[in-house]
Amino acid sequence: MKIFPTLFLITFLSFSTSYASVNDFCVADLKAPDTPSGYHCKPLANITSDDFVFHGFVAGDTKNSFNAALSSAFVTDFPGLNGLGISAARLDIAEGGSIPMHTHPGATELLIMVQGEITAGFFTTSAVFSKTLKPGDLMVFPQGMLHFQVNSGKGQATAFLAFSSANPGAQLLDLLLFSNNLSSEIVAQTTFLDFAQVKKLKARFGGRG
Ligand SMILES: *[C@@H]1O[C@H](CO)[C@@H](O)[C@H](O)[C@H]1NC(C)=O
Ligand SMILES: *[C@@H]1O[C@H](CO)[C@@H](O)[C@H](O)[C@H]1NC(C)=O
Repeated sequence: MKIFPTLFLITFLSFSTSYASVNDFCVADLKAPDTPSGYHCKPLANITSDDFVFHGFVAGDTKNSFNAALSSAFVTDFPGLNGLGISAARLDIAEGGSIPMHTHPGATELLIMVQGEITAGFFTTSAVFSKTLKPGDLMVFPQGMLHFQVNSGKGQATAFLAFSSANPGAQLLDLLLFSNNLSSEIVAQTTFLDFAQVKKLKARFGGRG
């Protein structure tokens, strides 16, 4: 009589239409709210080939305070990735520019060097893992580790990034510390930076307090 639990399971799976794990795919319905397990699925009748193709993976504008640009193909840009645990980005860093210290709480990152030279690294409190990368080199940044990328060569540097999540998220250290209105006294007291330096960085990154 083992057939009954099996039948029950099959029936349950065929009525449960929200998540990719029980479907061939689950194209994100970006009009519905995001959930901890991803977006709800668009009805099959509304899905087209365009949901599985992303256009415009081109160099972004690097004229900003980091002299760098990230063109993302995350689930919010590319709904077909929903529930598949994968996404991508294109990174362009002008000469002298950098991607400051940041983490991706939800994803491991794989960097694939295409042009120029990038020095990249991540670290723990006691060890540094850093390398200068040339075209054809790959470097992996394990999930959640604080890491950086600096253009250490001449001319523009370009890399493609792959992430082990459709929605990797990013926490940039400078923006967390200096672009909000957490009081400068608290920032100075908890980072051991001089108060004047905190004020200077708040002015640079648009923070108040
Ligand atoms: C699906 O398509 C129908 C008909 O075009 C439209 O009314 C409906 O809003 C669409 N649903 C979603 C979730 O996109
Ligand atoms: C920061 O701004 C928010 C609203 O924008 C306000 O409620 C809060 O009191 C402010 N905090 C500080 C420390 O100024």
